[in-house]
Amino acid sequence: MPIVLQNLTYIYSPGTPFERKALDDITFTIDDGDFFGIIGHTGSGKSTLISHFNGLTKLMSGKLTVDEFDLSKKYDYKSLRSRVGMVFQYPEYQLFDETVKKDVGFGPRNLGLADDEIEFRVKEAIELVGLNYYEIAERSPFELSGGQMRRVALAGVLAMKPKILVLDEPTAGLDPRGKREILSLIRSIKKECPTIIMISHNMDEIAENCNKIAVLSEGKLKGVFRPDELFRQTELIKSLNMELPTVTYLATQLNARGYDIDKGITDVDVLVKEIARIKGVE
Ligand SMILES: Nc1ncnc2c1ncn2[C@@H]1O[C@H](COP(=O)(O)OP(=O)(O)OP(=O)(O)O)[C@@H](O)[C@H]1O
Ligand SMILES: [Mg+2]
Repeated sequence: MPIVLQNLTYIYSPGTPFERKALDDITFTIDDGDFFGIIGHTGSGKSTLISHFNGLTKLMSGKLTVDEFDLSKKYDYKSLRSRVGMVFQYPEYQLFDETVKKDVGFGPRNLGLADDEIEFRVKEAIELVGLNYYEIAERSPFELSGGQMRRVALAGVLAMKPKILVLDEPTAGLDPRGKREILSLIRSIKKECPTIIMISHNMDEIAENCNKIAVLSEGKLKGVFRPDELFRQTELIKSLNMELPTVTYLATQLNARGYDIDKGITDVDVLVKEIARIKGVE
């Protein structure tokens, strides 16, 4: 079942001098199986928005349903938490336990699962994020590399077996190789976890992975677009102070130099084919 947001508004510290409207009348739907991107400049409300999806931020006004959970009514908080896996920015800062195994098992333990089920899930999740269980299970999470720590944090969320995975800037602070590895990992997780929602400032990541993208600006929704639709709107992207994906930028530049190339191309293979067509070397 989809995630349906209807007229969602959220105000921090209402009625005080610090009052701040972070979300303003947001309406859209995320369908099952979407790899859904959320973009917008700093402070546009992205993190506030996603923190509603697992009930961490309480609904203030409007309606929100996540799968069968109606968040405007009473709902089973624990079930929602295991349905929606939330990976915050820099999740490695939230590692805390003395071994990787205990840390990853924290969520399943809280669900009250049997010991052998916890053990099974921990092993499965650690392997799912591409780490070797036998090498890493008994080590302290704090002696791992940054990239490994992020994977362990992700494993902790996956051990809850969520159906929906929400990632707040999952590649922030990683080097190019680390970024590629985490993204390819996220794509591979899509089999276990069919709906993925990702906040990112990196338009290449958004263009390469997302089938739909919501654009936020100062708490308002500018629209939900397919990648080719979105990146064809050069004016909108410019007004939001954002970059075009590298491939789209190249297409735009070729177009400006008189080549008849679709400016909405986001896929490098399509661009290569277009160039070959123009050059007559198909
Ligand atoms: N706990 C809070 N108390 C008061 N205001 C807040 C709080 N958290 C966020 N805000 C404000 O709400 C607005 C939206 O913030 P939010 O963190 O959702 O934006 P964002 O799009 O995730 O930004 P970024 O790209 O920097 O992560 C901002 O103006 C921010 O200053
Ligand atoms: Mg944020």
